[in-house]
Amino acid sequence: MTNAGTAASAQIRADALQRPPPIRNRDLPLLSFRAVSKKFTDGTEAIADVSFETHAGTIVSIVGPSGCGKSTLLRIASGLSAASAGEVSLDRTSVGYVFQDATLLPWRTVRRNVELFAELRGVQKAERQRLCREAIALVGLEGFENHYPNALSGGMRMRASIARSLTMKPRAFLFDEPFGALDEISRQRLNEELLRVFLVERFGGLLVTHSVYEAVYLSSRVLVMSARPGRIIADIPVPFPYPRAPGLRFEAAFAALAGTVSEILQKASE
Ligand SMILES: Nc1ncnc2c1ncn2[C@@H]1O[C@H](COP(=O)(O)OP(=O)(O)OP(=O)(O)O)[C@@H](O)[C@H]1O
Ligand SMILES: [Mg+2]
Repeated sequence: MTNAGTAASAQIRADALQRPPPIRNRDLPLLSFRAVSKKFTDGTEAIADVSFETHAGTIVSIVGPSGCGKSTLLRIASGLSAASAGEVSLDRTSVGYVFQDATLLPWRTVRRNVELFAELRGVQKAERQRLCREAIALVGLEGFENHYPNALSGGMRMRASIARSLTMKPRAFLFDEPFGALDEISRQRLNEELLRVFLVERFGGLLVTHSVYEAVYLSSRVLVMSARPGRIIADIPVPFPYPRAPGLRFEAAFAALAGTVSEILQKASE
């Protein structure tokens, strides 16, 4: 990244952070699950009686044992999969979905990948380019617009994937272990980037992660699921105000809360 690019991107972030947009309909649930269950046709019961709500301007994390139905829950939220029972409510015209794998098209440059969703929606070229520039600046990928995905690191591919969804200005953002494949330092760095973007865009996020520390660092609430069929067995508020400094991870209150979540998760996995 060029120094000029870095400076410009930092300025955009600083400006946006000083003027966060108002959160629309803060009190209305953005996403709601009521007694949702999912049984696959082969008889596998993935989730059972799941109920929760999320709101705009909050990030809710989901942790749970492997195979407990977290991705299934996210796929149901996104509309990619149907619930077998219960009710789901979400305005699907305004949802961003980030998968564990960045799912970029290898024959398109970063710019053309980030423009993809706007292009598919028929957004005019000039507007598409503006949205793309803004999203690339927000995730700190300036200078890499003309790179192909195979010339990017895993973390940069994930940034491009997040930028691609940001061009849709989603009110709800669903993340399925977006940083699971990254080393600890890259993951922490991207956690900070994600919080920065969150404070600018004020979307409502639902994040599946295997990392208790990531869940506590990013979220307003952590939901813990039981082993399959996944049920929500704990809904833990995270009291630390935003913006959160990286040093929060070393504070005693943070360690205590992460310990509480880990303990519940451990019991759920037994
Ligand atoms: N299409 C399907 N047909 C049948 N069973 C499925 C299908 N998709 C997922 N499952 C099963 O549903 C259960 C939940 O899967 P899911 O992928 O939601 O778990 P997960 O919590 O995301 O796991 P991980 O943490 O490993 O990503 C698993 O037992 C899985 O084998
Ligand atoms: Mg999964």
